[in-house]
Amino acid sequence: MKFFIDTANMDEIREAHALGILAGVTTNPSLVAKEKGVSFHDRLREITSLVKDSVSAEVISLDHEGMMKEARELAEIAPNITIKVPMTPDGLKTVAALTKDGIKTNVTLIFSANQALLAARAGATYVSPFLGRLDDIGFNGLQLISDIADIFAIHGIESEIIAASIRHPMHVTEAALKGAHIATIPYKVILQLFNHPLTEKGIEAFLADWKSRSES
Ligand code: E4P
Repeated sequence: MKFFIDTANMDEIREAHALGILAGVTTNPSLVAKEKGVSFHDRLREITSLVKDSVSAEVISLDHEGMMKEARELAEIAPNITIKVPMTPDGLKTVAALTKDGIKTNVTLIFSANQALLAARAGATYVSPFLGRLDDIGFNGLQLISDIADIFAIHGIESEIIAASIRHPMHVTEAALKGAHIATIPYKVILQLFNHPLTEKGIEAFLADWKSRSES
């Protein structure tokens, strides 16, 4: 499973990129709205000048024509822009048209296996099931990842599954076990993945031993 970062914040993207683990970035309108004083397109220019892998940029229009217009403008920004569209009939028409033009797509707001199958059949490069938001309402987000992974494997579907709406490290481990190709993770959770008390304890013990040796 590969790691994407789920943010529009440049400092977070720079830090994650420096870790050498980053295979892409996803943004959404809520994440972009948190970034004050910079236009959406300018932020995408900044991100794509640093990250050469997939950078998802979401359209705001709800109709196919509007989505196509936005998508074409976004795709002009850099060759690695992936157009993110909502899981609606107009969204999938847009996926079908962009796929014909060779533009990568990410279908977002997926909450059922049927939605993922529809998105894949329309040609989506990526499908994004939202784990955390399903868990929030008492459904099993990880079961959805597992179901989609099984269906894609049975039918030889090549769309990649992005486990989205990740809230904590166990979501990451479980998404990998259930067969997600990618997890898009908030920066805070990426940092949590490093933590283990025995690692910290081990470093402290090594340093203490080293100090006692050099002082003897
Ligand atoms: C995915 O691409 C979305 O940006 C994201 O994972 C949404 O997560 P949230 O439920 O934390 O807003």
